[in-house]
Amino acid sequence: MEMTDITIEQKRTLLDTARDFATRAYVPYSHFPVGAAILVEDGSVIGGVNIENASYPLTICGERSAVVTAASRGHRTIFAVAVSAPKAPATTPCGACRQVLNEFKPTDAEMLVLLDEGDTWQETTLSALLPAAFGPRDLERADDA
Ligand code: THU
Repeated sequence: MEMTDITIEQKRTLLDTARDFATRAYVPYSHFPVGAAILVEDGSVIGGVNIENASYPLTICGERSAVVTAASRGHRTIFAVAVSAPKAPATTPCGACRQVLNEFKPTDAEMLVLLDEGDTWQETTLSALLPAAFGPRDLERADDA
């Protein structure tokens, strides 16, 4: 699967799922809900929400929560991610989430990133958001040395 293979229906499903998940974010401190949805190699769409904690730094973002669920189910390639932050249209994944998403990017394709804007959305790629990323291939290169 490549970015160009992702259909408009899949994009809409990703955005709808991210918006739906955002309604279940646990955000008693920031009141800033985030829902995320990721498209994996078998075509499933898996959602996540931000989950805050009374010990503030233990908060997990919506994007990482979706990745944790997907990886726990055995998925290892993420073709697309949608992010919905209803209070701030076109919110992008934080730096930590970009790095965690990078771990599961396709080897020969871009990872599509959809940023919810309510009625519409913006499209970018993980490579655009995290250029020159450090990832699993760097460790593989080191093993070869
Ligand atoms: N947050 C996310 O879930 N994803 C992002 O990409 C940005 C920030 C969450 C963390 C925290 O619960 C709230 O948004 C405010 O920072």
